[in-house]
Amino acid sequence: MSGIHHMLVHFPLGFWALATLMILVGGFLNGRFADISRAGLLPILVLSLLAACVAIASGFLVWTLDAVIYSPLARNHVLTALWSLGIFSMLTVLVWRTGSRAFDGARKWVLVVLALTGMSIFATTGTIGGHLVGATTQFSDLLKLFGWDVYNTFYVPSWVVAALVVIGLVCAVAGIRSQGTNR
Ligand code: HEM
Repeated sequence: MSGIHHMLVHFPLGFWALATLMILVGGFLNGRFADISRAGLLPILVLSLLAACVAIASGFLVWTLDAVIYSPLARNHVLTALWSLGIFSMLTVLVWRTGSRAFDGARKWVLVVLALTGMSIFATTGTIGGHLVGATTQFSDLLKLFGWDVYNTFYVPSWVVAALVVIGLVCAVAGIRSQGTNR
């Protein structure tokens, strides 16, 4: 099963990298290439989610749940895989709901910030996967410079989680209120 996971992970990583490139091209360039990027973004995002679900399922078949939970490295791998899925799910819903207006005005910046954040997280997922198979890269040295050693369980203080929940609620309320005033 390990070989299957190694093969399958290329699909979400490839689709997520392509979606990020399409968002940058669609957001900052003009012309035919930019038009194609904007028009083709939603199918690529949907494919990326399907590919990610298959890759995640295959990951859980490689090591037993006990082994995954026991190893800080594997825990971090699963955590960042699920975060990547979360960010690109958000992007998919945003692009799907706003359709041809997805890149209008400030919306473009929401897509760009989410895509760049997602890119750094899926790069971390792949990097940790490399550590799991003994193929390390310098990317983890970069993460260490930011204060995180991938061999230690990623830790967020409870107050940060609480602050994130509050920020999420404020954004949701602001979104609902602005929908009301736009009607
Ligand atoms: C989108 C999600 C995921 C991506 C992109 C991803 C990516 C990777 C990559 C790039 C590798 C190294 C493969 C190689 O160098 O050939 C790897 C290995 C590994 N991944 Fe994932 N992974 C994902 C989800 C998961 C999940 C959910 C698990 C759950 C346990 C998991 C468990 C593992 C394990 C155990 C290895 C080491 C395999 C071995 O020992 O041969 N992965 N992964």
